Amino acid sequence: MPAVRRSLLLLPLLLLTACAAGTPGGSGDAATGPAGALDGADSVARGAYLVNLLGCARCHTEGYLLGQNATGPHLAGSRVGIAYTDGDDDTHPGLVFAPNLTPDATGLGGWSRRDIVRALATGVGTDGHQRLPVMPWPNYMALSDPDLGAIADYLRSLPPVHRPIPAITAPSETIEHPYVRFGIFVFTPFETDEESL
Ligand code: HEC
Repeated sequence: MPAVRRSLLLLPLLLLTACAAGTPGGSGDAATGPAGALDGADSVARGAYLVNLLGCARCHTEGYLLGQNATGPHLAGSRVGIAYTDGDDDTHPGLVFAPNLTPDATGLGGWSRRDIVRALATGVGTDGHQRLPVMPWPNYMALSDPDLGAIADYLRSLPPVHRPIPAITAPSETIEHPYVRFGIFVFTPFETDEESL
């Protein structure tokens, strides 16, 4: 087939792909309506889809970090720590625990939709502190506004589970919980654009 014919055939395919990709955070996208925001039930469903796709439960549900199936309630936090410092003979690394994300007082109960969006897009929690990038928020910054909102809507729709999660263990403190290592996390906080949220 001549080259010209082939590229003509490809054109509709490319257009389709471009439409499906949508405009992150943009307006007028057919899938998200004029303001770019999804309606309640659609937003919760989209959030469930994204949370599954982005693997939030891999850290935020008990069991997965130890290579097991879930042994605790969905997204209600993990008491298995993740080492955030490293070293060849470091037997007392700092440990961080993936918090309870359900709308209970031991989880995100006091957090507004905007608080959750802010944490995902900037790493900054309601206490004003930026979370360690063990929580992959530097990647989640790239999510569109409707998708960030959808994740927040889904988390806020979960059944509240009362389940306290351990606080951070500082390096060289006594370790009281099992933990995993999956990398060295050196982190320098950086400026993020909170105005646009
Ligand atoms: C690789 C493990 C990992 C994955 C995957 C992960 N998180 Fe986290 N998340 C953490 C850890 C660990 C913290 C606590 C970090 C800290 O205290 O500095 C955290 C903190 C948070 C916080 C702040 C809560 C609080 O009480 O401070 C929110 C909200 C959150 N994660 C939501 C999510 C969502 C939503 C996803 C999926 C889109 C996700 N996380 C994926 C490990 C993870």
